[in-house]
Amino acid sequence: MTTTTDRRAALAEQIFTSMLGALEIFHVYVGDRLGLYSTLAASGEVTADEFAAAANINPRYAREWLEQQAVSGVIDVSDDRRYALSAEAEEVLCNPDSDFQMAAGAQLIAGVAAALPKVVEAFRTGAAVPYADYGADVRVGIARLNRPMFVNHLVSEWIPAMPDIDERLRNGGWAADLGCGTGCSTLSLARGYPQAHVDGLDLDEASIAEAAAALAAEPDLADRVTFICRDAAGPSFAGRYDVVTFFETLHDMAHPVAALSAAREMLTDGGAVLVGDEKVAEKFAAPGDELERFNYGWSALHCLAAAMGEPGTAATGTVIRPSTVRKYAQEAGFSQVDILPIEHDFWRFYRLIP
Ligand SMILES: C[S@@+](CC[C@H](N)C(=O)[O-])C[C@H]1O[C@@H](n2cnc3c(N)ncnc32)[C@H](O)[C@@H]1O
Repeated sequence: MTTTTDRRAALAEQIFTSMLGALEIFHVYVGDRLGLYSTLAASGEVTADEFAAAANINPRYAREWLEQQAVSGVIDVSDDRRYALSAEAEEVLCNPDSDFQMAAGAQLIAGVAAALPKVVEAFRTGAAVPYADYGADVRVGIARLNRPMFVNHLVSEWIPAMPDIDERLRNGGWAADLGCGTGCSTLSLARGYPQAHVDGLDLDEASIAEAAAALAAEPDLADRVTFICRDAAGPSFAGRYDVVTFFETLHDMAHPVAALSAAREMLTDGGAVLVGDEKVAEKFAAPGDELERFNYGWSALHCLAAAMGEPGTAATGTVIRPSTVRKYAQEAGFSQVDILPIEHDFWRFYRLIP
């Protein structure tokens, strides 16, 4: 039996662990933003002063950051106080394409923390904190965190889970990527299917500007990829696309049913909508597991807040349960929703059939 004292101590310890996590993630943020991990990786074993000179930062801050990183187990330190980044840590902190890449997580948390005063005010008023107000750290953090999935798995695993769609894209089909953010999924599709045409749409101007800049860096894709700044629920290109994708965006949309209806109209005969969204539990249960806590962690602070305010908003929040996706799909006129057999720690994949 849990006594009141045990429970009090357990909760205090849980919150202390969260404080520790916050303090440590902000040190990762500092290291990431200043390029300290790549400097350390390039430096081999260094003293604090050598590191400060190589990183072009103040020596006293450098020593404190290095000691904090060593104490928290992120970097290695020798008995004579020389610091180094292991190959494993370099992959997690410096390799943008690794499935283990996590520095982006620190950028995201810092971005949400910076928006907290607006979120607190929004709790009072019920207004939105618009997506754009979260700024570059959230926009870029999401893009960096999701990038390895798109680069490594979208074309090799996710689309092939729908063999008929894979076949169409191999033979010059068309794809639309709704809520494409800064366009990594769109560009990965175009690279992986060299005959296909891919259009990326997003409501956020800064995201589409960054997507267009990424496209400009790959001129060989220019005649097959277009980025458009537009609401996913806006007028559709009826009957043009073999697949319409929504990656981690349906739950962010204020009008998800309208967006799915538009997507349905965009499909060619036999085309499909692919939704990849949070792998939350089927039903609410408390206490939840880490994944449930993680998704609720984002919800009120970002995803729900970004979707609030608009008249008639669905205000879904991050915790989009399978029953919610089915309900939205049915309301948008789809006859069937299949959960695809794709292994993924964070997302569940739905194929919506008109
Ligand atoms: C969490 S981000 C995901 C971005 C990208 N799909 C990815 O996985 O990296 C959600 C995106 O949905 C976009 N979004 C939200 N509502 C939208 C709407 N109604 N139409 C188009 N895009 C929308 C946001 O601007 C943002 O870029």
